[in-house]
Amino acid sequence: MNPADPPDPAEPDNRSPWSTPLMPEIRQAIRQAGGALPFVRFMELALGHPRAGYYASGPLRTGREGDFVTAPALAPLFGECIVAQVLEIWRRCGEPSPFTVVEAGGGDGRLAAALWRIARALPALAPFAVALRGVGVETSPAHRERQRQTLWAAGADAERLAWVDTLEEACPPEGLTGVILGHEFLDALPLHWVERGESGLMELAVVESPGGPEGEPGLDVVPMPPQPPLSSDYFSALGLDLPPGMRAEVGLAAQDWTARAARLLTRGALLFIDYGHPARDLYHPAFFHGTLTGYRQHRKVENPLLFPGAMDLTGHVDFSAIARAAVGEGAAVAGFTPQAWFLLDCGLLERLERQSARLSPEDQALARQAVMRLVLPQGMGERFKALLLTKGFPPGAADEGPFMGFRSRDLRGRL
Ligand SMILES: C[S@@+](CC[C@H](N)C(=O)[O-])C[C@H]1O[C@@H](n2cnc3c(N)ncnc32)[C@H](O)[C@@H]1O
Repeated sequence: MNPADPPDPAEPDNRSPWSTPLMPEIRQAIRQAGGALPFVRFMELALGHPRAGYYASGPLRTGREGDFVTAPALAPLFGECIVAQVLEIWRRCGEPSPFTVVEAGGGDGRLAAALWRIARALPALAPFAVALRGVGVETSPAHRERQRQTLWAAGADAERLAWVDTLEEACPPEGLTGVILGHEFLDALPLHWVERGESGLMELAVVESPGGPEGEPGLDVVPMPPQPPLSSDYFSALGLDLPPGMRAEVGLAAQDWTARAARLLTRGALLFIDYGHPARDLYHPAFFHGTLTGYRQHRKVENPLLFPGAMDLTGHVDFSAIARAAVGEGAAVAGFTPQAWFLLDCGLLERLERQSARLSPEDQALARQAVMRLVLPQGMGERFKALLLTKGFPPGAADEGPFMGFRSRDLRGRL
């Protein structure tokens, strides 16, 4: 997620942060919950309410016309690198047909489009092009529509594409052979927001407060005892201890989603790329205030309670928990590495060089800039990580050594 683009000065924002169309539902949910709504429920509504939630309603959220720009839009070579990794997974799986690529939260569809374009363009990939099926797990009607248009423009076969609301609908009853892909998807799932109180872990809950600029009711958070499924010993059970006063997020929804994905996968892999850390780094005092952030009109908003339903909400992914959830369902952690190393191992620079020959000097400079942003540590190179989880590979597949994107730097030991 990149808020770095300048805000559009033609779009002044002088409305109250608590006058969004979702606010009546939020107020009602707070009252129904007895005056304090666990933050995770607030975030579920803010992102997923069918009429007024950020993703479930409204226009396209990614790209220059939305609230943030992601890597597939920043540099098409990013998609090419992911495709190279997917192709290797297919080959090491024994080149099965059909081979389904399920993309969760595909945004504007560029990543999936790269898959179809490359499969179609290279004669050597004809067997893959025949095997390929595509399923988008996508809750946003606007994103779904854009994905459809992007994929048709890339030459994908309409009859080999489907869109569904849930992972379960994406997978045949006998289990999935293929890849389940999530780029900046896990970070979009609702988070429990917690605080380490003097006497133990507390869950933060949203309450009404006189917080609006003109005295109208706004929102605030208060600590309450953790509600199931969050348990008060969540961190101690992992051997972690937050210092008193520290705030953090727990991605139980992302863990549940990953466990379900791993359960539904018979042969293939889960590949996640997102901003995040191993648990011991994420729950370190370096993140004393947590990582929960809002994005609106290409700007970071510190207070996650503002603009409910009209602002993206996101937090860094706990990759240790994601790996644990998949391993619990029989998957193996095949690779974990920073995005920079993943992309470089997938041939990013060689691709840039080949592409440059076809570009004007101005476009070459732009392409180089975008690639730098993807790999430099102060850009997205270290903050984003790639996690590969495999399951059901034929015997012998492991003998080939690490997968393409995970050859140079292996951070699995930190998970
Ligand atoms: C941060 S965007 C990332 C988009 C895209 N992967 C990219 O990198 O440009 C999150 C995506 O997940 C979708 N999404 C959010 N919550 C979802 C859910 N619960 N199930 C399926 N898709 C969801 C959004 O509509 C959007 O397409």
